[in-house]
Amino acid sequence: MRLSAFLSLLALVLQEAQPASLPKERKKREESSPGEGNASEVLHVGDIGPSRNDYHEVIDLSSYEELTDYGDQLPEVKVNSLTPPTRMGPTQSTMTARTPSSKPTVTMPTTSGLQGSLTSHGLPTCLVCVCLGSSVYCDDADLENIPPLPQMTTYLYARFNHIRHIRARDFKGLTKLKRIDLSSNFISSIDNDSFHLLPALQDLILPENQLTALPVLPRGLEVLDVRLNQLRSSGIQPEAFRALEKLQFLYLADNLLDSIPWPLPLSLRSLHLQNNVIETMPRDIFCDGGEPRHTRRELEDIRLDSNPINLSLFPDAYFCLPRLPVGRFT
Ligand SMILES: *[C@@H]1O[C@H](CO)[C@@H](O)[C@H](O)[C@H]1NC(C)=O
Ligand SMILES: *[C@@H]1O[C@H](CO)[C@@H](O)[C@H](O)[C@H]1NC(C)=O
Ligand SMILES: *[C@@H]1O[C@H](CO)[C@@H](O)[C@H](O)[C@H]1NC(C)=O
Repeated sequence: MRLSAFLSLLALVLQEAQPASLPKERKKREESSPGEGNASEVLHVGDIGPSRNDYHEVIDLSSYEELTDYGDQLPEVKVNSLTPPTRMGPTQSTMTARTPSSKPTVTMPTTSGLQGSLTSHGLPTCLVCVCLGSSVYCDDADLENIPPLPQMTTYLYARFNHIRHIRARDFKGLTKLKRIDLSSNFISSIDNDSFHLLPALQDLILPENQLTALPVLPRGLEVLDVRLNQLRSSGIQPEAFRALEKLQFLYLADNLLDSIPWPLPLSLRSLHLQNNVIETMPRDIFCDGGEPRHTRRELEDIRLDSNPINLSLFPDAYFCLPRLPVGRFT
């Protein structure tokens, strides 16, 4: 995992450092030989995730976007400077500390002011993590807490760590933060105030943790991925999603929910609830029963398979949808 994370970063840096015609070429290569060939060619940051297919378009696109956004900075990053940060023994880290020119972040204006903030390793965040432009990559870095983040952090990846708890102060004041990806940690609780005041947050990616409840969510959220947790319906506040008028992707599969959250914003495009324990639903859960012309054109992707519910019992529930939900209709 560490090696592939490093390889993918390296690949990205190398690709971005090459001439502008590359993206087209790369795309062609990927189309012609998906999944085979050469690691340095095909890997991207999104490939680190545990189940790329489920949301790869979201991850890949934004990773790509973020790197092109800061593309002009990338050539400054020396490739060999990427080697130490994700994982260091004590000797390596003192070496790195003594030779500041090898730190990947020294030239980054975003990390100034961070010198005094240390992670639980006792090191500055951008020594433990890789900071590239305004992205902070902390995958698989033995973190037990969210490290102190540079003020300008826009994308945070801290997958495959040992984080158990998200504190209200962890993301405080990070007004640029657009994506938080904490897949595959041990998070069992999140302070209510951790996320909801983040004005720019669009993607909150938390699959494979141990959550039983959701915190209050920020209004600008577009993607919420909480698959493979232990969420119960009692852990979702009534109307938790009502005010989220930009929410498009709500991934709640593989939890312990016994009801469909309600109400759902009209912006929603995907609602994944497979592998829960839902037995029934109100007839007007998707469509406003009193308004037969009511439509929900966006909600094309509802998954209710692997739930005990018999979808044939609710024929009136789907008239406003562009497509029937996926699930058992017998
Ligand atoms: C990997 O890519 C490099 C550079 O494109 C190429 O020289 C090498 O032969 C490739 N290796 C394999 C196993 O395809
Ligand atoms: C979060 O807020 C909700 C509603 O305001 C409340 O019911 C819940 O107990 C709070 N959770 C925590 C951990 O404070
Ligand atoms: C599901 O509901 C339909 C419609 O009432 C019924 O005909 C069918 O037998 C039910 N299936 C099961 C497995 O209960």
